Amino acid sequence: MTMKLALDLPGTPPFSSQVVIDRDGDGAFPATLESCLQGRIAYWIWDETVFSLWRERLEGPSFPTITPAHIIRFPASEANKRLTMVERLAGDLLERGADRGSALIAVGGGVTGDVVGFLAAILLRGFPHIQGPTTLLAQVDSSVGGKTGVDLEQGKNLLGAFHQPQLIWMNLQFLETLPPEEFRQGMAEVIKTAMLGDATLWRYLEAPPGELRCREREALCQVDTACCRLKAEVVQLDEKEAGHRRVLNLGHTVGHALERLSNYQIRHGDAVAIGLVAAANLAVSLGNLAEESLTRLETLCRTWELPVRIPPGFSPAALLRAMQTDKKHIRGRLHFILPVQIGRVMDYEGLRPEQLEAVLGRLLEP
Ligand SMILES: NC(=O)c1ccc[n+]([C@@H]2O[C@H](COP(=O)([O-])OP(=O)(O)OC[C@H]3O[C@@H](n4cnc5c(N)ncnc54)[C@H](O)[C@@H]3O)[C@@H](O)[C@H]2O)c1
Ligand SMILES: [Zn+2]
Repeated sequence: MTMKLALDLPGTPPFSSQVVIDRDGDGAFPATLESCLQGRIAYWIWDETVFSLWRERLEGPSFPTITPAHIIRFPASEANKRLTMVERLAGDLLERGADRGSALIAVGGGVTGDVVGFLAAILLRGFPHIQGPTTLLAQVDSSVGGKTGVDLEQGKNLLGAFHQPQLIWMNLQFLETLPPEEFRQGMAEVIKTAMLGDATLWRYLEAPPGELRCREREALCQVDTACCRLKAEVVQLDEKEAGHRRVLNLGHTVGHALERLSNYQIRHGDAVAIGLVAAANLAVSLGNLAEESLTRLETLCRTWELPVRIPPGFSPAALLRAMQTDKKHIRGRLHFILPVQIGRVMDYEGLRPEQLEAVLGRLLEP
C-alpha cells in the first residue's frame, strides 16, 4: 500500500511537495518517480553505508531502475556535513554531466538529506530534488519541511537554505537495516511530535510498544504518517519559521544546549528527550501543565530507553548560557515552547532565567 500526502506551500509560484509512504514495496513507486521527474535525468546520492546494505535488493520491482553511472556514494557522517563535501559533490555531478535537465535524489539519513538538499538549493541556483530518508529521524522529521544545510566550525546547521523537495520517498523497508540505537534516537522526535500536536499518536505510543519495537510495517506506517502529516501542517502555515513553525522546537532549546556543551557526546535524540522533560517540568512549575502529563512523558521516554535526567557534570548556569547563544534565540529573549497538555503547546516568551535554572537544577543527576 502506498500513502500519499501533499504539502502545499503558498508563494510565487505556489509549490507542492508530495510525501509518498511506501509501506510494502508494492511496486507503485517507480511510476510515481517517473512522473515527478518529467524526463529529467536523476543523479542518486546515497549514504554509502545504506548503499552497501541495499545494493543487491535494489533490483526488486519496488525500486526504480538506477543507472550505475548516476550513483554517487556519500560517506555520511556529521563530520562530513560540511561545505567542502558540497563542493566535492557538485564537482562530481558536473563532471558526470548533470545540468539543468537533471534532478538529485538523496538516499540516507538526515545528514545525507541536509547536505544534498543544500547542494540542490545552490547548484546552478537551484536544482529539483527528491528526498529518500532511510532513518527514523529522517522519515519523521528532517526530510519534510525543506530545511537544508551544513555545519560550520562554530556550530551545527549554520549555513543553510530553505529548499523544498518535490517528492519525499518514505520507503519503510529501509528501516529494516537501521541499527537499534539509531531507531531509539528517532523515537525521541516521534514522542516530541505527539506531545506537541497529536494526542492520538501519543495514545498509540502509550499502548504496549511490541509492534513498533519489532518495526512492523503497519506500526511504522502509522507513526510516519502521523508525524509527516503534522509536520506538513505546521510547515504549510509557516514555511520559513517566522512564528508558528517554532512549535517544532519543543524540547530542542535545552536539547541543543546539552548537545553543544557535551561536545556532541550526548546524541540528538537523547538530548531532545531530556529537553522535553525539562520543558514539561517548566510548564508544570508555571502551572500550565498537569503533573500527570509530565509523569506520562517520563514513562514513555523510559519505555524507549531515552534519558529523562541531565547527566552529572553539567551546571544549570552553563546550560543557560548555551541557550542564550543559540542561533534560534531572538534578540536575547528566552523563547520557550512549552506543553500545555498532551498534544498542545504554547510559545512562552519572557521566561525568567532563574525559573529555568531552578528546573534544570532539579533535573540534574547527582
Ligand atoms: N533538516 C531538518 O529539518 C533536520 C531536522 C532534524 C535533524 N536534522 C539533521 O539530521 C542529522 C541527523 O540525522 P540522522 O539521525 O538520520 O543521522 P545520519 O544521517 O548520520 O544517520 C545515522 C547513521 O545511520 C546510518 N544509516 C542511515 N540509514 C540507515 C539504514 N537504513 N540502515 C542502516 N544504517 C543506516 C548512517 O550511515 C549513519 O551512520 C543531523 O545532522 C541533524 O542536524 C535536520
Ligand atoms: Zn530534532
